[in-house]
Amino acid sequence: MESTGSESKMVYRYLGNSGLKVSILGFGNWITGHDPKAEETQIECIKKAYELGVNFFDTAEIYGDGEAEKIMGKAIKELPCERKDIVLTTKIFKCGADVNGTFLSRKHITEAVQNSLDRLGVEYVDVLFCHRPDENTPLEETIKAMNWAIDEGLTFYWATSEWSAAKIAEAMEICKRLKLHKPICDQCEYSALMRTNFEKNLRHSYETYKYGTTIWSPLAGGILTGKYNDGNIPEDTRYKDNAYVSSVILQKYFGPKVKENTLRILNGLKEIADENNVSMAQLCLAWTLVNKDTSTCIFGASKVSQVEDNMKALDLALNWTKELEEKIETLMDNTPEADLDYNKWAKAEGRRSLRVDYDMKIEPMAALWTTFVSSSE
Ligand SMILES: NC(=O)c1ccc[n+]([C@@H]2O[C@H](COP(=O)([O-])OP(=O)(O)OC[C@H]3O[C@@H](n4cnc5c(N)ncnc54)[C@H](OP(=O)(O)O)[C@@H]3O)[C@@H](O)[C@H]2O)c1
Repeated sequence: MESTGSESKMVYRYLGNSGLKVSILGFGNWITGHDPKAEETQIECIKKAYELGVNFFDTAEIYGDGEAEKIMGKAIKELPCERKDIVLTTKIFKCGADVNGTFLSRKHITEAVQNSLDRLGVEYVDVLFCHRPDENTPLEETIKAMNWAIDEGLTFYWATSEWSAAKIAEAMEICKRLKLHKPICDQCEYSALMRTNFEKNLRHSYETYKYGTTIWSPLAGGILTGKYNDGNIPEDTRYKDNAYVSSVILQKYFGPKVKENTLRILNGLKEIADENNVSMAQLCLAWTLVNKDTSTCIFGASKVSQVEDNMKALDLALNWTKELEEKIETLMDNTPEADLDYNKWAKAEGRRSLRVDYDMKIEPMAALWTTFVSSSE
């Protein structure tokens, strides 16, 4: 289906077991604080992403303590389209320091969704996420509050972020028993360097509930773009200036136990990208896109040129080959080990190998629809 608001081509997927169609490349405006001109650059990036075919835009109440939602709200008003033409999502869990301004109680969800809508300047979001699981609030209370938000027209769907397959299953059973709206997808991390939760742990949710995903940090926050390939943190990047992200996230990739392997993978991916005449960012984004368990891949950008670079990943995804897939798998050597299939007393086949799309196409449905509309005029 062609994008309605731009001349760009795009592939759309249904978001989980719902009728909502999302562009497989999405844009998120998590602001990590290193860019003093965040508002200006994020608005330009959002406009460029839309122009190049993105319909899925993600933010959260916690990003910049509400600032990101305000920026997203300003940006979408400048898009050359109507509110209905985009899929806008936000996430609730924590914003502010007051004792009840957090987590997934009915009180916080009810107040937070209205505050988010006010900051965004819209009447509804398309999907409202529980940004993390809340192990203390009764799940039934959370689900009823999300159900209320849907019934009030404040959101069309609700979803989870970084919930375990067990928690998702528990939520599904409560929704079924109480006849409430079910969550449709999880916003979880997925990149060439971070695979296990997405490919292995959530498998039950995909197979049992057709659960969708809106994956985050597909470039590991920039580490998979080539600029970290010597193991140093470049100037003018989010990891250079932000003590929190540096301490937590850099440990994940460049901590003493993993650094050597990370650098081996990064430099190998760069070689493969060069052989295919694409940027490393394009290669790594395309690698997530071709996995049909990715409903949409939310990337971030601190410059418009990064958006332009990243959007070209679609071309590579449309031309993905078995040879390329195998070459990357062999290099990375980090396929999550599948569980035992006790009926066969053997390892089950890895989920990714069953889900890579070597035949991705621009959806023919819109072409048919366009033909129908023009022939009816
Ligand atoms: N649900 C959750 O818990 C959760 C968590 C995190 C994120 N998210 C969502 O996912 C979105 C994306 O996450 P993310 O920002 O971490 O994703 P990402 O795409 O992995 O990283 C984006 C960062 O990488 C660098 N970059 C991007 N494209 C580049 C290119 N072509 N060349 C060089 N550098 C490039 C930029 O940072 P520099 O220029 O500073 O290097 C950019 O800000 C967020 O905005 C948010 O909406 C959700």
